[in-house]
Amino acid sequence: MTEQTSLAHNLAVGFAQTPKTLSSKYFYDAEGSRLFQQIMALPEYYPTRTELSIFQTQGAAIVQALRAGTMASQPLAVVELGAGDGLKTKILLRELVAQPAASFTYVPVDISPTALDELVASLRQELPALPTEPLAAEYTAALTTLAQRPEAKAVLFLGSNIGNFPPAEQAAFLQALAAPLTPADRLLVGFDLRKDPRRIRAAYDDAQGVTAEFNLNLLRRFNAELGADFQLEHWQHYPDYDPSTGAMRSWLVSRRAQTVRVGALGGQAFEFAAWEAIHTENSFKFTLLQIEQLAQAAGLRVVEVFQDPAQDFADVVLAVA
Ligand code: AVI
Repeated sequence: MTEQTSLAHNLAVGFAQTPKTLSSKYFYDAEGSRLFQQIMALPEYYPTRTELSIFQTQGAAIVQALRAGTMASQPLAVVELGAGDGLKTKILLRELVAQPAASFTYVPVDISPTALDELVASLRQELPALPTEPLAAEYTAALTTLAQRPEAKAVLFLGSNIGNFPPAEQAAFLQALAAPLTPADRLLVGFDLRKDPRRIRAAYDDAQGVTAEFNLNLLRRFNAELGADFQLEHWQHYPDYDPSTGAMRSWLVSRRAQTVRVGALGGQAFEFAAWEAIHTENSFKFTLLQIEQLAQAAGLRVVEVFQDPAQDFADVVLAVA
């Protein structure tokens, strides 16, 4: 399937559902990736800063936990899914590079070729001796790569990207990640934890409106790539958080009754009632108990948990059970 066909397919299938739904993986075109970079620096968006602080203060211990199952001299592949700008990962990579006798390759995987190009360029400057094998692909393609690599593995899935999956798919995804791993390999997964609901909601409804632009950019993308005629001024970003389930959801709400046509679907028309909402993203928040249960459901065991002092975020080292 070409990128355009899969985008069109996602729209046709998603708009046949109730409520209408679009996949958050399509946020990340060049503009979406740029907006996400801005989100990560927003005062309200605490996850990136918090995970960064965990790496800054406990990076050496995290790297030690990732290497614990393997001999120091054994080659290691550090595979990162959804690498983005690699800002946090560079802290761990520096720790690894500094270890004597350690030979390792960094395999950053990202759906956005732009983000990946920028990451590789910055790594060439900052860590010129680091062998890097970037892969512009979806997570599923990364799993195939993972299975083919002969080295010991440390698989990184940071930033609470796991929260973007619906609960029913979280364990299945971790299980697929774990399938090519040996008991000596390690997974490092970042989880955003439950906290004051108002703080969580604010992180997805920032005062500068960057997150709103990020969400609305999805419609801009459908206009540019599928010849759709979404009029952005008739849509609004709306985030809601359910503290009983940890479900942080983003919506695009139709401000009035309207019809949208999509050129790439033969001009097919989609009707929206006034105040009808399209579900565009899940960003689930977790408890430590849920993380344990999720690991167990995926055939994994929790090896070590690294947290910030306020317990806002957890980076969890997992291994095949
Ligand atoms: C990439 N992902 C973990 C982010 C999140 O928090 O769900 C994407 C995001 N959406 C809105 N703000 C950030």
